[in-house]
Amino acid sequence: MPRIAPVARKSASHLSIDELQADIRRAKQMTKGIVTINIMFAVRNFMEMVKASIEAGVDMIATGAGFSRDIFKVGKDAGVPIISIVSSPEFGKLAERSGADAIVVEAKEAGGHLGTDRALRDLFPEVRKVVKKVPLIAAGGISTGKDIAEMIGKFGADGVQMATRFVLTKECDVADAFKQAYLNAKHEDIVLIKSPVGLPGRAIRNPFVDQYLSGLEIGDGCCDACLKNCGHEFCIANRLVMARNGDTKEGLVFSGENVWTLKDIPTVRELFDRLVSEAEEYYQPAPIVP
Ligand SMILES: Cc1cc2nc3c(=O)[nH]c(=O)nc-3n(C[C@H](O)[C@H](O)[C@H](O)COP(=O)(O)O)c2cc1C
Repeated sequence: MPRIAPVARKSASHLSIDELQADIRRAKQMTKGIVTINIMFAVRNFMEMVKASIEAGVDMIATGAGFSRDIFKVGKDAGVPIISIVSSPEFGKLAERSGADAIVVEAKEAGGHLGTDRALRDLFPEVRKVVKKVPLIAAGGISTGKDIAEMIGKFGADGVQMATRFVLTKECDVADAFKQAYLNAKHEDIVLIKSPVGLPGRAIRNPFVDQYLSGLEIGDGCCDACLKNCGHEFCIANRLVMARNGDTKEGLVFSGENVWTLKDIPTVRELFDRLVSEAEEYYQPAPIVP
């Protein structure tokens, strides 16, 4: 079977624990705000990364792509809030019962790995019904102030999580080519692929994705065995880093479903001002349910 563009066998993308801690300390020095790390449960050294992040002074930890029951006690003991990312009412309930300090409901419109094929406005109300005590945050496809007003006002979300919209800001430190891939994406370019993590992943079509979807063997080989269960279809970590660094043809460009609607690269300040004024224009408080 033909093979395509294998990437270097030794991954440059896997941070050592020392590098991870140095990154967190650097981020803490750069802001008075809250520094949160997102650690996939699917990574092999998940708990080591959790503990090292706490030791380095991270303020909160978000976790998805699987479910850790052990992380909540570790967070409580250290005084570090744990945010669970879920994609079903069952896991929402389990996360609250297990001790999550906040819960993100991530729906199919999101970028990256997906735990559901259900739309946010369909899924969120079901999780809202069963999560009663902790903040519930909506994620997936939110890109305007109108979306924010709708999720908070109509659907009763306590907040929203946005990724794709903020990639297209001046401050986002991905390569310019990555931002251009977002700006140039058309509706039909947004596809789902099977990720070696074992979940579908939402990405923008490019030569790598086209060849993978056509069934060609990629042949990246296995690098650092970074995942608990890797499908070995290709090296997910390397392909993501390649794209972030500007190789948007052979790298994997993760993106949300609504990326094709975005047409500009504002500063974060400009974007926040726009989102807040749009949200204020459209916000209507949810009716109080007795
Ligand atoms: C480029 C990119 C990389 C992402 N990587 C991760 C990740 O490593 N872990 C994670 O839990 N979610 C990840 N996500 C999902 C986001 O955290 C977020 O929940 C989701 O994309 C929200 O939808 P939106 O992009 O439409 O705003 C990623 C999203 C994008 C666009």
